[in-house]
Amino acid sequence: MASFSEGLPAFLLVFLVTLSSSFAGNLNQEFDLTWGGNRGKVFNGGELLSLSLDKTSGSGFQSKKEYMFGRIDMQLKLVAGDSAGTVTTYYLSSQGPNHDEIDFEFLGNVTGEPYIVHTNVYAQGKGNREQQFYLWFDPTKNFHTYSIQWNPYQIVFLVDNTPIRQFKNAESLGVSYPKSQPMRIYSSLWNADDWATRGGLVKTDWSKAPFTAYYRNFNVQTCSGSCTSGFSNGVWQNQELDAYGRRRLRWAQKNFMIYNYCTDYKRFPQGFPPECRV
Ligand SMILES: *[C@@H]1O[C@H](CO)[C@@H](O)[C@H](O)[C@H]1NC(C)=O
Repeated sequence: MASFSEGLPAFLLVFLVTLSSSFAGNLNQEFDLTWGGNRGKVFNGGELLSLSLDKTSGSGFQSKKEYMFGRIDMQLKLVAGDSAGTVTTYYLSSQGPNHDEIDFEFLGNVTGEPYIVHTNVYAQGKGNREQQFYLWFDPTKNFHTYSIQWNPYQIVFLVDNTPIRQFKNAESLGVSYPKSQPMRIYSSLWNADDWATRGGLVKTDWSKAPFTAYYRNFNVQTCSGSCTSGFSNGVWQNQELDAYGRRRLRWAQKNFMIYNYCTDYKRFPQGFPPECRV
């Protein structure tokens, strides 16, 4: 053990011997509705939460707790019908000037046309790492699970347990990685018709307001207590995706990815950012 641990950075060692805890949340106890007045609501004693948007305002919530690594799941049912111009965000973010952030954004569309799932990762204030996807189902008909798996080695975005994006720690190539700033969970529903749908061509139809998105079954697995004792084999703590996860990731990227900054030659004529190589 001594020889094994000597080569590891302290933060990894603490992480490896972390006791994992799992928690299925009462939304009332875990989140605060932070803006939008009564446009945000919690129902059924904390089982269901809704955000809505009308011409006057959107709405949003944030977690009471901060998280430092973990697997975070939430089920969302997105704005149904004509959701063009609306954006539902669901993300982790730290505070302060050089913030870290892990983003899901759901860009609405006119009835019957596909939502776009927009993802991004910020480390030390630097983002510009967009990947976008269509979904293999209609995200407005039922609840689906959107997850973020965040550990010292990688960030994985999952939809119904299928990895759609993997952002690996590329510190060895000089790329900052989110690993020292705790993050809260945030979500909001707001009007972004200047860019959201077909790049801003389609505007929000306010005659369809209010627009409403629903949340339930929040679940988080993270370090418990001091994070310094016990063992864990939580899958979210793995350094790599397993073979099945890698296959699913390839499937999602091959069939549903519609934008990847790492292949956008026009945007990076001088060469892609270093993390695109890992
Ligand atoms: C909306 O539908 C159009 C037409 O199918 C598509 O090009 C676009 O990517 C869809 N999503 C958004 C958010 O614009």
